[in-house]
Amino acid sequence: MDISRPRGTRDFLFAEMRNRKEVENVLRRTFETYGYHEIKTPIFEDLKLFTVKSGEEVVNQIYHFTDKGGRELALRPELTAPVARLYMNEMQRDPKPIKMYYFGSCFRYERPQAGRFRQFWQFGCELIGGRSPLAEAEVITLAADSLRRLGLEGFEVHVGHLGILRGILSREKIEDELQDRIMGIIDKGDVDELESCLDGVEISSKSRDLLMSLIGTHGGPEVLDDVRGLLEGYPESLSALEEFAELVDTLEYFGPGEYHVNLGIARGLDYYTGAVFEIYVPRLGAQRQICGGGTYNLVETFGGERVESTGFAFGFDRLMNALEMDEGDMRMVDVFVIPIHESTLPEAVRITQEIRGVGIAADMDLAGRKLRKALSYADHLGARFVVLTGERDLQEGKVTLRDMEDASQEAVDRAEIVDRLKKICCE
Ligand code: HAM
Repeated sequence: MDISRPRGTRDFLFAEMRNRKEVENVLRRTFETYGYHEIKTPIFEDLKLFTVKSGEEVVNQIYHFTDKGGRELALRPELTAPVARLYMNEMQRDPKPIKMYYFGSCFRYERPQAGRFRQFWQFGCELIGGRSPLAEAEVITLAADSLRRLGLEGFEVHVGHLGILRGILSREKIEDELQDRIMGIIDKGDVDELESCLDGVEISSKSRDLLMSLIGTHGGPEVLDDVRGLLEGYPESLSALEEFAELVDTLEYFGPGEYHVNLGIARGLDYYTGAVFEIYVPRLGAQRQICGGGTYNLVETFGGERVESTGFAFGFDRLMNALEMDEGDMRMVDVFVIPIHESTLPEAVRITQEIRGVGIAADMDLAGRKLRKALSYADHLGARFVVLTGERDLQEGKVTLRDMEDASQEAVDRAEIVDRLKKICCE
């Protein structure tokens, strides 16, 4: 029987998992220093949660199914909507802002390729109920700071504001649904598709030209001054621009960091309402976007009050690709215990348990191997030390301690072996 992994999924072996956990821990620590706390939500949710306002592309990619009770459920494609649901179910009365972070797998039915999977992980956060340039700037800083703490080089933080583009579309009285479609095409970066979509839309040539030129506008904060003049006659866009200018100023309070103003950011999800940002690692090529986020108002969309929030998610798998960590050799245990004679088995078990009891990773030969084979297995595990229990040794109250690095051996008092290992392994 040929049973293989489903397309677009991966298995992670020991060394890769070790590296992933290391990165996860740095992110956890960083998010916690900014006052965020972890939450966990179900892997599957009511399908409606994602179809109300998630964007055509994401909705098309949802894995969904009907359960035995006839419920329409979906494997989550992202975690912002689940967190908004959790907030509505459990936290509406809590003082705001509420800072939550999460690490979990998401599922999207996409065409798999390097950096694009059907099951992938997101590490992200949501700051619920705190729309202000200060809150937004802090969220963006947390993302950039996390990457700096991970030692990632060559990433670019691009910040924009959806209100500027949407303001032009609204001025042209283009209804929301069509706006969402246009923003989706801008997000894909497909200029030809955008041109042909706009051909079928009633839009003045002035607005059309403005839209096309804003999409390609990026640079330093001075870009905003250049754009201000162009937005004359587009009041919604102008007020979004002023809001955005305040965010750009506020980012400076958080210290130096390279930010690119990028008015072409449209985001692939429909729920954003204000500032948006994306982080790219250009050397990753087509899947260079390792992080996306922004300000949104999903709670109101779900029928709650107006609670604006800001958040982002790292694509954890792309982040791992960008970090290019060495997989190196794995040390599976520090100590390996080998009962040389069968009669010493009970004592070997006791010794192994004592070593584990003081927090040292230890294993023992469970397969009744001959010494040479057992030593080679210990070597395969990367054990630093081997404890040999021979009949004669034990009768004399001793065991043999073997250093696997230089193959030197010495007799150690049975009563002292654990302390001795503690000293050398935990120093
Ligand atoms: P998103 O941009 O759709 O935003 O996803 C966030 C990140 O997940 C992307 O930047 C990308 O790195 C990664 N990603 C997306 N799809 C895949 C895939 N198929 N394979 C590997 N990585 C992928 C969101 O999901 C929003 N919920 C982010 C957010 C949080 N906005 C506000 N709060």
